[in-house]
Amino acid sequence: MNTFSKQIIAIFTVIIALTSCKNTTQKKENNTQTKPIEATQTANNSEGYQLLKTTCYACHNPNTKNHDNIIAPPMIAVKKMYSMRYNTKDTFVNAIVSWASNPKEENSLMKGAVNRFKVMPKQGFKKEDLTKIATYIYENKIETPSWFAEHEKQMRSNGMMNMKSKN
Ligand code: HEC
Repeated sequence: MNTFSKQIIAIFTVIIALTSCKNTTQKKENNTQTKPIEATQTANNSEGYQLLKTTCYACHNPNTKNHDNIIAPPMIAVKKMYSMRYNTKDTFVNAIVSWASNPKEENSLMKGAVNRFKVMPKQGFKKEDLTKIATYIYENKIETPSWFAEHEKQMRSNGMMNMKSKN
């Protein structure tokens, strides 16, 4: 093999190495969304967030002062429960969308909440909006009421957190 061919081969090798490196980085970026609870970013200007605020926070409000005066579980509690059961983005989003399209007691993962608040009323949400909302919830850090950490601690010491419903 002459020097010229060797140089060509060397150049191609470098090009291939560079392109494959780029692919690996992209793959890594695409994989950062697999752990919903550990998500750290918020995208408060996104459409999903605006929809969440206007359509869900009327009841699932993160700014409540204590556990006694709420009318529905805060969305962080819903997220925690649903991500224990549905640990991929697709299954999580599907579960939230299908619940909010047609809430039925027998499909509930939060029996305690149903007992306390009665089942979530059926509302005419658009599927398209629900998908954006559920995707936002999955991908982002959800605002947490100030009383929530203490409440969770109490629930855990009461053994309530082990009552994962299995239906
Ligand atoms: C009118 C009040 C109200 C609104 C608005 C509302 N919810 Fe709810 N939601 C509730 C109540 C009350 C519960 C607790 C009882 C239950 O689980 O059904 C609940 C529970 C849930 C649950 C848990 C269901 C289960 O038991 O497994 C999900 C998921 C949920 N809501 C999603 C949403 C989403 C998404 C939106 C916005 C598109 C929304 N909710 C808007 C009242 C509401």
